[in-house]
Amino acid sequence: MLQLSFLIKLSFLNNTKTKINNLAIKTTMSSKESNLEELANEYKNRSPVAIIKFALENFDNIAISFSGAEDVVLIDMATKFKSDVKVFSLDTGRLHAETYRFIEQVREHYNIEIDVLSPDSESVQNLVREKGLYSFYNDGHKECCGIRKVIPLRQKLISLDAWVTGQRKDQSPDTRNDVPVVERDDAFSTIDKELIKFNPLSNWSSADVWEYIRSNDVPFNALHQQGYISIGCEPCTRAVLPNQHEREGRWWWEEATQKECGLHAGNVKQKS
Ligand code: ADX
Ligand code: SF4
Repeated sequence: MLQLSFLIKLSFLNNTKTKINNLAIKTTMSSKESNLEELANEYKNRSPVAIIKFALENFDNIAISFSGAEDVVLIDMATKFKSDVKVFSLDTGRLHAETYRFIEQVREHYNIEIDVLSPDSESVQNLVREKGLYSFYNDGHKECCGIRKVIPLRQKLISLDAWVTGQRKDQSPDTRNDVPVVERDDAFSTIDKELIKFNPLSNWSSADVWEYIRSNDVPFNALHQQGYISIGCEPCTRAVLPNQHEREGRWWWEEATQKECGLHAGNVKQKS
């Protein structure tokens, strides 16, 4: 176990320090991939706390991506054994007032820094000038999400070796059914640097998350008291009815298999 984590760390160090030819890249990649698969296999039945602990112990340069929703449990778990955990939130400029308040509440409650990332103002202005404030209802969410979420995320991830997300399989049977507890982030790795993505909550259900929130007195977003389950930007999120799937509250005008905003682009299967 220790050996496996050491191997992974070692291969990262090698990757950044050594210039290698294409053949060597191929060989290294496949051994890294199998190490990661082994690790995912080993941790797939472990608790989210064990997974976060492993992640934080093995990567110094790692951060939790916090959406301002029930993924707050990641912060609760992490701060129990690391007080200065790195956390970032993508402020799209279109979040609910409740979400901004909640992000602030979490910052104070856990006494942590939260890196709140803004999109490039010129790109936002150009989009809005050209297409208005609600272009996504007409031509899909990709362009707006690209500017407000994906580009700022890419810029942030360049500075990291690994990140932690609150993705769960049960959040979307159409796109998240296969989310492993740890994976190579194919969407954001570069030729120079491989990025690892931990999804500690992958195998937890929404009920498990809420059981944790209640038993640990974890603060939560006030929107959850108004029928919201999955929470993103205000114009693209709505409350759901009893027994409606939580993902139906997101980008409801679009096809279910395409409902990823680009943060987790690897989950979307290409249409044939
Ligand atoms: S999304 O891609 O559809 O918007 P979702 O809301 O399900 O994602 O959240 C899944 C995980 O993606 C969150 O737990 C969090 O790790 C990350 N995430 C989503 N939105 C944000 C955000 N605005 N800021 C930071 N991380 C986010
Ligand atoms: Fe824009 Fe909606 Fe994507 Fe937010 S979720 S960035 S408002 S398209």
